Amino acid sequence: MNAATVAYSPGLEGVIAGTTKICTINPETQTLLYRGYDIQDLMQYASFEQTAYLLLYGELPTPNELDLFTQTLVAERGIRPEVASIIAGFPKDAHPMDALKAGLALEALYDPEKNVHTNETNIRKAIRIIAKMPALTAAFSHAKAGTSLPPVLGAELNHAEHTLYMLQGQKPDALTAKVFNSTLVIYAEHSFNASTFSARVTTSTLSDIHSGVLAAIGALKGPLHGGANEQAMLTFLEIGSPENVDAWLETALTEKRKIMGFGHRAYKNGDPRAKLLREMRAEFITAKGANSPWPAIADRLEALMTEKKGLFPNVDYPIAYLYYMMNIPTEVYTPIFAIGRSAGWTAHVVEQLANNRLIRPKALYEGHPQRPWNG
Ligand SMILES: CC(C)(COP(=O)(O)OP(=O)(O)OC[C@H]1O[C@@H](n2cnc3c(N)ncnc32)[C@H](O)[C@@H]1OP(=O)(O)O)[C@@H](O)C(=O)NCCC(=O)NCCS
Repeated sequence: MNAATVAYSPGLEGVIAGTTKICTINPETQTLLYRGYDIQDLMQYASFEQTAYLLLYGELPTPNELDLFTQTLVAERGIRPEVASIIAGFPKDAHPMDALKAGLALEALYDPEKNVHTNETNIRKAIRIIAKMPALTAAFSHAKAGTSLPPVLGAELNHAEHTLYMLQGQKPDALTAKVFNSTLVIYAEHSFNASTFSARVTTSTLSDIHSGVLAAIGALKGPLHGGANEQAMLTFLEIGSPENVDAWLETALTEKRKIMGFGHRAYKNGDPRAKLLREMRAEFITAKGANSPWPAIADRLEALMTEKKGLFPNVDYPIAYLYYMMNIPTEVYTPIFAIGRSAGWTAHVVEQLANNRLIRPKALYEGHPQRPWNG
């Protein structure tokens, strides 16, 4: 066995592809830390703004720092009228993830510091990206629905509340805002996942931060990654009611279907984020969906999948039905994941560029050996 064979791991499983100070996962203890803080504490106590600051700067903000950071986010919430009107003309059958990608690419063209690439400008651009993701998502959502994009509001709404307001045209109630904030915090970061790694690879060429985030959005769209939250809800809808779960799963497993929202590359004994969301859902279900079939469908499917396949739900599983109970259209679930993860993506790009080396692995060649030209 030569050295290349020994080092090869399909899907890069187990490969250490870089160093980071942003986030660590311990599958054995099922812990997930952002800059040393446990996700359990962050999702309970931190706002998305505090979390984004923590990820970008490495420390939780002081009250003054948070104030300044929030003011900047609020000031950057809007998108340019030129961009909004181009988005309004996008084909209505486009997927919102593609519209988000195209919308952010348009915003990048107008970024006031698009041609300057220092650590300081990258952090400012990061804040602008994080701030504009909800309006970019909402702009296409409204265009598609034939409704008007609501005017951007100020600091009276935090990032989570403002995101729901932009999407739904009305301020969410306190409980919905709290649960939604927790999902954004939970989505904000997850180490070297596929989209974050894509962002790091892209910017390791010294390309710009917007290009890194655009690459990440493309990677997140796939159903094996962020696209799973939309697919999980489509699965619940296909099942329809709790009494259908057993028969549905039997058929699905016979057809060797992948059950979306189960399994994880890093967590083989359960995703702590799914467990935490499951624990916090009780109050929300009581308030919003005592008669909703989705939690019962999800619980039965989870029990069967654990028993029959030894597979546990991942983060996208509980989020799917929580968002459904918030009346969010299924195809906006993955863009919302991107709204949260933009904090982690940009933090990783900034970290990558602070100590950059081009990411360029090798491949194990399995093609034809050298042969003579015989044309
Ligand atoms: C997340 C995921 C891509 C991890 O993939 P991975 O680490 O490469 O694991 P594998 O795909 O090799 O899975 C190992 C085995 O479990 C099975 N498996 C994994 N996830 C499964 C799922 N959701 N449904 C059915 N079977 C699954 C695989 O088919 C494979 O079986 P095999 O050994 O008989 O071929 C995978 O679990 C998956 O596709 N899940 C569904 C999509 C999803 O929810 N993604 C969001 C992740 S946060």
